[in-house]
Amino acid sequence: MTAARTGNHVPAYRTVDDIQLGDLEFWAKPLDERDAAFAALRSRMPLAFHQELTEVPGVPVGPGFWSASRYEDVRAINRQASAFSSAAGITLGEQPPETLEFFGSMIVLDDPRHAKMRLLVQKAFTPKMVAQVEQSVRTRAQRLVEQASVMGECDFVEHFAAPLPLQVICDMLGVPADDEKQIFDWTNVILGVGDPEFGLDLDVLINAAMGMFTYAQALGEDRLAKPREDITSTLMHAEVEGQRLTAAEFGSFFILLAVAGNETTRNAIAWGAKLLTEHPDQRRALQQNYSELSLKAADEIVRWGSPVIHMRRTALRDVELNGTTIGEGDKVVMWYWSANRDEAVYPDGNKFDIMRPNTAEMIGYGGGGPHFCLGANLARREIQVMFDEIFRQVPDLEITSEPDRLKSAFINGIKRMRCSFTAK
Ligand code: HEM
Repeated sequence: MTAARTGNHVPAYRTVDDIQLGDLEFWAKPLDERDAAFAALRSRMPLAFHQELTEVPGVPVGPGFWSASRYEDVRAINRQASAFSSAAGITLGEQPPETLEFFGSMIVLDDPRHAKMRLLVQKAFTPKMVAQVEQSVRTRAQRLVEQASVMGECDFVEHFAAPLPLQVICDMLGVPADDEKQIFDWTNVILGVGDPEFGLDLDVLINAAMGMFTYAQALGEDRLAKPREDITSTLMHAEVEGQRLTAAEFGSFFILLAVAGNETTRNAIAWGAKLLTEHPDQRRALQQNYSELSLKAADEIVRWGSPVIHMRRTALRDVELNGTTIGEGDKVVMWYWSANRDEAVYPDGNKFDIMRPNTAEMIGYGGGGPHFCLGANLARREIQVMFDEIFRQVPDLEITSEPDRLKSAFINGIKRMRCSFTAK
C-alpha cells in the first residue's frame, strides 16, 4: 500500500488506487485510517471503481463496484430508484443463491412491488400500535437499566445496548420471552458474516436464516388462525388490493425486522455511550437539557456512528453521475459512513457535536429514497429513552475499554465494550 504514514500513524493516502474497500481487511483497520481513506476518496475520486477481493467459501467473487463517497451523490443515487435497483441485493458482496428466499423481503424489492408491500406493512404501524410500542420501549429500558445498575461494572453491549432493541422488536412481533435469546443468536450470525467470531461459513449463515425463517412462518400461521394484539397478527390479516402476505413473505419480513431493527439500534446505543464518555462537556449539556437536546443527540450519534455503513444498488441502465458513466448492470455502493462525514455538509465531520445545526439531515437511516428506514422514529425513541434511563439511574456511567469492533463493511458494530458506574 503506497500510503505515507503521518506522525500519529494515520496514513495519508498518496493514491486512491491503494484504498481497497472491497477487501474485508480494510474494515478491521482503526477508524482514523478509515476516515483518512474516505476523505481522500471524497476529495480525489468521489466515484471510484473498486475490485472485490474477499472470497467467501461458496459465494462467487463479484465483478467489482462503483463507490459513491460524497453526500450529494449518495442522495442522488438513493432518490433515483428507477435507475438504481435494489432487487439484485443491497450489500456489497454477492448474495448466495441459497439465501435469496430468506432475505427476499421488501428491502430488496423495487417499485411497484416494494410500494405495495410497504403500504401493507405500514398498516401495522397504527397509532395504537405505536403507542403500545412506546410504552414497551420505556418499560423495557427502565427494567434493563435497573437490573444492570447493581453491577457497578459490566459489558455495556450485553447489558445495556443489545437487549432493548431486541426486546422491543420481539414485543412488537409477539415473540414469547423464552425465544428472544434464540432470535438474538440468529441475528448475530446473519449480520456477523465475515467476522471470525461468527464465521465466514456459508452453512452457518444458511442454518441461521433458515431457522429464523421457519420460526417466523410458524408464528405467522399461528396468528393467522388465532390473532392477538401484535403486528404479526395485523400483518397476517392485512390486505392490499385484495392480497395478503403469504407465510413465506412474512418469514422474510420477520428476518428483515429482526435484523434491521436490532443490530442497528444496538450499535447506535453503544457508539452513543462511547461518544458521550469521550465528550463530558456535551454529556453535561445533554443531561441538563434532555428534553430539548435528546433528539439532536440521537441523530448526531447515528451520523457519527453510521451503524449501517453502506447500501448497494445495481444500475438498470447506463447512468451519468457527475461526469462518470455507470454502466447498466454495474453495482453501486453508497457509503453512508462517508456521506455523513462529507466536509461539504458537515465541517469537521469526524467531530462529535450534538449542537450541529443540521443533525437531522444526516444519512444514517437512508438518503430519502423509497426504502428510507421504516423504523427510524422507533430507533430515535429507543436511543433517547435508553440514555434518559441511564442518566436517571446510573448517571456516572462511563465506557472504560476500547470497543471490540465487528469486522464488517456493512454494520459498524461493537461486539463488546466495558463500562463502570456507581452501583445502586
Ligand atoms: C439506529 C437504528 C437504525 C438504523 C441506522 C437503520 C438504518 C436503515 C437503513 C440505512 C435502511 C435502508 C435505507 C435505504 O436504502 O436508503 C433501513 C431500512 C429499513 N429499516 Fe432501519 N435502521 C434502524 C432501525 C430500524 C428499526 C428499529 C426498524 C424496525 C422496527 C427498522 C426497520 C427497517 C425496515 C423495515 C427497512 C426497509 C424499508 C424498505 O425497504 O422500504 N430499522 N434502515
